[in-house]
Amino acid sequence: MKHIITFFLLLTFVLGVTACNQRDNSNETESVNSSETHTKDKSAASTGKTNILVAYFSATGTTKALAEYAADILDADIYEIVPENPYTEEDLAYYTGGRADQEQNDPSARPAISGSIENMEQYNTILLGYPIWHGEAPRIISTFLESYDFSGKTILPFCTSHSSGIGSSADNLHSLTPDASWLDGERFEAGTSKEEIEKWLNENDIMPNETTASSKVGVFDFEKKTVLLNSGYEMPIMGLGTYSLSDEECYNSVTALLNAGGRLIDTAYMYGNEAAVGRAIRDSDVPREEIFVITKIYPGEQFENPKKAIQDALDKLDIGYINMMLLHHPGENDVKAYKAMEQAVTDGKIHSIGLSNWYVEELEEFLPQVNITPALVQNEIHPYYQENDVIPYIQNLGIVVQGWYPFGGRGHTSELLGDSVIFSIAKAHGVTSAQVILRWNLQKGVVVIPGSSNPEHIKENLDIFRFDLTDDEMKQINALNKNEKHDWY
Ligand SMILES: Cc1cc2nc3c(=O)[nH]c(=O)nc-3n(C[C@H](O)[C@H](O)[C@H](O)COP(=O)(O)O)c2cc1C
Repeated sequence: MKHIITFFLLLTFVLGVTACNQRDNSNETESVNSSETHTKDKSAASTGKTNILVAYFSATGTTKALAEYAADILDADIYEIVPENPYTEEDLAYYTGGRADQEQNDPSARPAISGSIENMEQYNTILLGYPIWHGEAPRIISTFLESYDFSGKTILPFCTSHSSGIGSSADNLHSLTPDASWLDGERFEAGTSKEEIEKWLNENDIMPNETTASSKVGVFDFEKKTVLLNSGYEMPIMGLGTYSLSDEECYNSVTALLNAGGRLIDTAYMYGNEAAVGRAIRDSDVPREEIFVITKIYPGEQFENPKKAIQDALDKLDIGYINMMLLHHPGENDVKAYKAMEQAVTDGKIHSIGLSNWYVEELEEFLPQVNITPALVQNEIHPYYQENDVIPYIQNLGIVVQGWYPFGGRGHTSELLGDSVIFSIAKAHGVTSAQVILRWNLQKGVVVIPGSSNPEHIKENLDIFRFDLTDDEMKQINALNKNEKHDWY
């Protein structure tokens, strides 16, 4: 991967800005597509809780006690899976051929659940508790898992039992949630103490961070339309990408965004338009502290002389500090460049730092070499390239994910915006396909920054907070994934 990157790095440098401009100079929102960001939740933040949910089923109260300990320790929301038809003592008498025995003998049994979780999209980690029934999770757990879209979420199972271990009870559930990542579960005996639960949560890195504020890192606040970064700064969850915009287009687009209430702007050295972004910000009436600017430095000369590259960005933007600086993609001297950004954070020149086009393998190699955990990773994400394995991996590190090419990128936007599944969902909500795609991103916890030079599109792209995609609609879009990358990064 790195070799390919190094090769392209050279090539791209030579072709540079010309190539960028060739890609798209049109005024069409859909074809410009730069990056976008977004995060996690809404009611989680509004209730002051974390983005963790403790969900459990308990017929006789043993599992319930432990679930309550976990929720208390994590300051997490708790949800009891309540059967529509409650289990009587007779139902539970095992080896009698009673109701529970019959259900466990029938893998297709799905006992109905009373009530439901309203905003499942706000949670990215689910602790799932249940008693062991004949070596398995009770079938009502299957009902629960089939009732929601768990893609991109992490599930940590735990169980109580008379004597059996957790065995394969959790593994047998994996096929019900194909796009979730499951952690290894744990079995507890009746009467397990709160301290033991705390120790287990610690071992699984599920502990909330030390302060209340940091425990909300990565949680999307859909009311404020922001996410708290691990750097302590808040970032809007939707904004404008400026990739391929000429100076004038860029100036006008940023102005249109700010006038329409947008506050997040994504640019890069390689886009050649940092100065135009800065000029539009300085010319606007919006206070600087309300605006969040992301820029990037590029492999090659900039990574070799990162201090100068950072200073150049500060000079070109000329807006005091930079809210977020990213490395544009992996390449020679990337650790050196990142360390220079770390120093700029210490010096107060940059608030937050992150990476662009870094995937699991690259992150595993890179992170141990640096001191500040990136606050943001910006990658290609769209319905045909969903990165379902990469997104939860990044989010579980406390890093916010932002997607570029939300509409599939040049040459693919009409295909994506015209996709019959997306189109029919848009029609059902009285919105556009573009809005559906952006909203799908937000509900996956991905920040969006669609590119556009069309003020109408810019306004439309911000208008994604008055409708919710249902779990079924999310599932339909998730099913469109083709793992089809549209750019080489
Ligand atoms: C139908 C049924 C089957 C059970 N099967 C097992 C089992 O296979 N192994 C075991 O150790 N305990 C088994 N148990 C005991 C429960 O797993 C144990 O009492 C559990 O802690 C109850 O949790 P709860 O109070 O949250 O419902 C079974 C209980 C019932 C009702």
